[in-house]
Amino acid sequence: MPQVVVQTEHLTKKFGDFTAVDDINMSIEEGEVYGFLGPNGAGKSTTIRMLCGLLAPTSGRGLVLGLDLATGGRELKKKIGYMSQKFSLYPELSVLENLELYSGLYGLYGSEKKKRIDEMIALAGLTGREGEKTRDLSGGWRQRLALGCAILHRPRILFLDEATSGVDPKARLLFWDIIYDLAAHGTTVMVTTHFMDEAEHCNKVAFIYYGKLIADDSPDNLKKKIPGRLYEISAEGAMELLAKVQAGEAGPVIDSYFFGDKLHLLVAEELELKPEGIFAGAKIERIENSMEDVFVYLVKSHAGDDLGSGRISGIGNATAASAVRKEGTK
Ligand SMILES: Nc1ncnc2c1ncn2[C@@H]1O[C@H](COP(=O)(O)OP(=O)(O)OP(=O)(O)O)[C@@H](O)[C@H]1O
Ligand SMILES: [Mg+2]
Repeated sequence: MPQVVVQTEHLTKKFGDFTAVDDINMSIEEGEVYGFLGPNGAGKSTTIRMLCGLLAPTSGRGLVLGLDLATGGRELKKKIGYMSQKFSLYPELSVLENLELYSGLYGLYGSEKKKRIDEMIALAGLTGREGEKTRDLSGGWRQRLALGCAILHRPRILFLDEATSGVDPKARLLFWDIIYDLAAHGTTVMVTTHFMDEAEHCNKVAFIYYGKLIADDSPDNLKKKIPGRLYEISAEGAMELLAKVQAGEAGPVIDSYFFGDKLHLLVAEELELKPEGIFAGAKIERIENSMEDVFVYLVKSHAGDDLGSGRISGIGNATAASAVRKEGTK
């Protein structure tokens, strides 16, 4: 049986009257890559900061590596790795100086310190560039160096909060190679991301919305939760077509929304769309559910729930999942 390294029960964080993280129950097994997704302000960073021992829960309980979040924060900080979007590097210090500084924070000395620093320089691909100031490195290098700093002390669990935004796609792929490698060697990785392709590569994906966990499963299982069949439609005048579909002219459509410049129509299993009637001249393709479709579906199925209304501006029936998508481009 794989060991559970993160377990929360009714984990809640309030800021005054405002509930940022609302009654979250989750568990993460050792070696898992666990994706944590949700729109702006959903509560991702607040959850991660509680799991890292940086922020005390208001109520509920959480155990990380067997340590209670309410009391074990100080010890926990030494045992976990944490990396935020800001990369927490000192720009005026060199590559080596940053690594030395973190070694000191983690209590590494002597030959072990030297060995780990050398390994992290190699992992970041910065061999020969140890003396360069961090501020002169481009995003991808800085990102890998920050990761090296976060895992110098060989944490069993690594929390990555938006660590993959703001770098180019090639650097993202390199970064993910390192993550997979860490996970393959037993490190548990919890990652918040706005990139749906990254969500696809997680063993498990949790979706947080208005502070509540509304899904937590493997990407495959999540995709199976969407009923009916999904079509992708390319057409001139897609906007008008969508209006007709939403007026019921295509038959029993479960859901319809823009997906880039195309339309996605989720229809009853028995309905087969053909390029005729309102779809004359359109290109119609039956497609597999992607994670983005999963999130559109999940968000809409929770739209009627009592979830802190007004908390996230601009979240309407079709816009919550696109809010997730748009963030990827910020
Ligand atoms: N220290 C704080 N005091 C008051 N409110 C806070 C504090 N920290 C976070 N919040 C609020 O809690 C909610 C959740 O914030 P959080 O940063 O966890 O969201 P997030 O999912 O990480 O969003 P993003 O995608 O923008 O990073 C937000 O409405 C935020 O304004
Ligand atoms: Mg955040």
